[in-house]
Amino acid sequence: MTTTPAAASRARPVTPMGILAASLKDIVSRLEAGDAGEPSVIGSISVALELAGGLDAYVALCTTPESPALQALAQRTSAHDWAGQPVGNGMPVLEQEMLSGHVEGQLLKFLVRATRSERVLEIGMFTGYSALAMAEALPADGVVVACEIDAGVADFARACFSVSPHGGKIVVEVGNASDTLQRLAKEGATFDLIFLDADKVGYEEYFRLILDGGLVAPHGVICVDNTLMQGDPYMTGASSPNGQAIAAFNKMVADDPGVEQVLLPLRDGLTLISLVEGG
Ligand SMILES: C[S@@+](CC[C@H](N)C(=O)[O-])C[C@H]1O[C@@H](n2cnc3c(N)ncnc32)[C@H](O)[C@@H]1O
Repeated sequence: MTTTPAAASRARPVTPMGILAASLKDIVSRLEAGDAGEPSVIGSISVALELAGGLDAYVALCTTPESPALQALAQRTSAHDWAGQPVGNGMPVLEQEMLSGHVEGQLLKFLVRATRSERVLEIGMFTGYSALAMAEALPADGVVVACEIDAGVADFARACFSVSPHGGKIVVEVGNASDTLQRLAKEGATFDLIFLDADKVGYEEYFRLILDGGLVAPHGVICVDNTLMQGDPYMTGASSPNGQAIAAFNKMVADDPGVEQVLLPLRDGLTLISLVEGG
């Protein structure tokens, strides 16, 4: 049976985002028709708000809770005065929103366990939430090599790791991730799971270094954060430098016949990539 374009356009939205988009479209057309003050319009806006506003909290509610160590790390990160950090010298501006958090941390932890990973590489560690989440799922002799350019935030993370029974599995590499990746490739290091979450303009370079340097094991998984970049890559209008970088990165991955991938609309987007067998 074939699906005609007319049939496709009649398809009923059945997901929260699909229903939200249809509902907003309806609200816009009613506002354009001058129905702004109608109670039914206000009612529709309230439903749309609940649909969108309740999603993240419900996803979190249905996800395995984070460990006390991860909870403490997140609290310590949000209590810190990031605005008071010295900036300049081309170093990244750090902010608490960089932390991946409960649901994404749990997904990474789940993937580490499901793939029976023993060696994990993280590119962009910040205060160490995702590094510690992944370490919690590793066997006792497993390792997370975590790259971070900012020495101050690396010390912050180390202090958090020191109070977790899994912190000893994390090796922090302070420096520019490209230098660390090149060194690891020269050493012949390979990883079962790689989490890419550093500066977005560097993604294309890091991805090439991972593939060309043989850093991902043949059965390995590369997880890439922020691949929706606040909607920039698919929205019309001016795109931010990060939006442009992610759009170019996503296209590079989609055009690469040597990998297969899926973009999950979790938080700001997480793409899972694996090597095509024999590719
Ligand atoms: C989004 S945060 C990482 C968040 C962390 N993965 C988590 O889940 O909590 C990005 C981090 O990448 C670091 N970073 C930026 N550019 C880098 C580079 N060239 N090399 C290594 N780390 C870099 C930043 O200092 C920042 O701490």
